[in-house]
Amino acid sequence: MSARIIDGKHLARRLRGRFRERVMALATRGVVPGLAVILVGDSPASQVYVANKVKACEESGVRSFMHRFPADVAETELLDRIAAFNLDAAMHGILVQLPLPPQVDVRRVLESIVVDKDVDGFHLYNVGALVVGNSIFPPCTPYGVQLLLETTGIDVAGKNVVVVGASNIVGKPMALMLLQKEATVTICHAKTRDLARHTIDADILVVAAGKPGLIKEEMVKEGAIVIDVGINRLPDGRIVGDVDFDVVRERASWITPVPGGVGPMTVTMLIENTLRSAERFANGEAFHPPQPFWQVPAR
Ligand code: GUN
Repeated sequence: MSARIIDGKHLARRLRGRFRERVMALATRGVVPGLAVILVGDSPASQVYVANKVKACEESGVRSFMHRFPADVAETELLDRIAAFNLDAAMHGILVQLPLPPQVDVRRVLESIVVDKDVDGFHLYNVGALVVGNSIFPPCTPYGVQLLLETTGIDVAGKNVVVVGASNIVGKPMALMLLQKEATVTICHAKTRDLARHTIDADILVVAAGKPGLIKEEMVKEGAIVIDVGINRLPDGRIVGDVDFDVVRERASWITPVPGGVGPMTVTMLIENTLRSAERFANGEAFHPPQPFWQVPAR
C-alpha cells in the first residue's frame, strides 16, 4: 500500500480563503482583529515561526503587533507588557512565543494573559477547559491535526491512537482532544520503554518528538494513519519530520508530509482563534476590561 497524502498546505489555503468573509463581517461592525506577538531573544527557529505568524496575519486581514525583548529581559517587563495588551481593546489575541529564557517563569507569564485573549490556549483555564471538553481556544497545533484527521473521513471514536511526545504544546493537548472524540489514547514520551510495542498498535499515530527518523517502517501498523508533527533541520539543510517518510508511506493508509503537512495548519489555527476571539468580543461574549478568570460569569 502507498499512503494517501494529507495535504496541510491545501487545507490551510482553503480555510484561509474563508477567513476573508469573517474579517469583512467584523469590519462592518467596526472591528479589525488584532494579534499581539511577543518574541524574546533571537533564536533563529522562533524568529522564523513568528515571521510566519505575522505574515499569515497580514494575508488574512488581521493586524499584528510585534513586540521584541532581548534574551535577558526581566520577567516584570514582560508581565507589564502583557498587562498593557490585556487592557488594549485593539488586541483580541496575545501570543508569547515559546521557549522563554530561564530567568522567566513560563507559567507565570502564560497565566498573566487574560483568558479571553489566550489564542494559543496555553493558560491554565483553557488547559482545564480542554480536560472537560469545553475549550474556548484549542491549542493551534493539535487543533490543526484534528482538522487534518477529519479530511480522511475516518472517525477516531474507538480507534487506538498513540501520541508520541508529551509536551504541553502538542502531545498532552492532542491526547485530550482525541480522548474527547472517544479514541483510546496512549501517550508515549522520552522515558517510554520499547516505543515500538506501543506504536505498532496504533490505528492513528501522531508523532511530536522532535527526533528525525524516530519512527521506522517496522514500528507502524499496516494501514495506519500517520501524522508527523516534527520539524527538524538536518545538517545538510533539509527539513524533515520525525517519521521515516519514504518507507512508512508504503505501510500507512494516510500520511502527512514534512514540510506541507501540520506546519501550515498551526499558523492557520492561530488566525482562526484570533478571529474567534475578535468575534467573541464583538458579540459581547468576552469581557472588557478583562476580568480575572475566576470572576468571569459562567456562560
Ligand atoms: N513554540 C513552539 N510552538 C509554539 C506555539 O504553538 N505557540 C507558541 N507561543 N510558542 C511555540
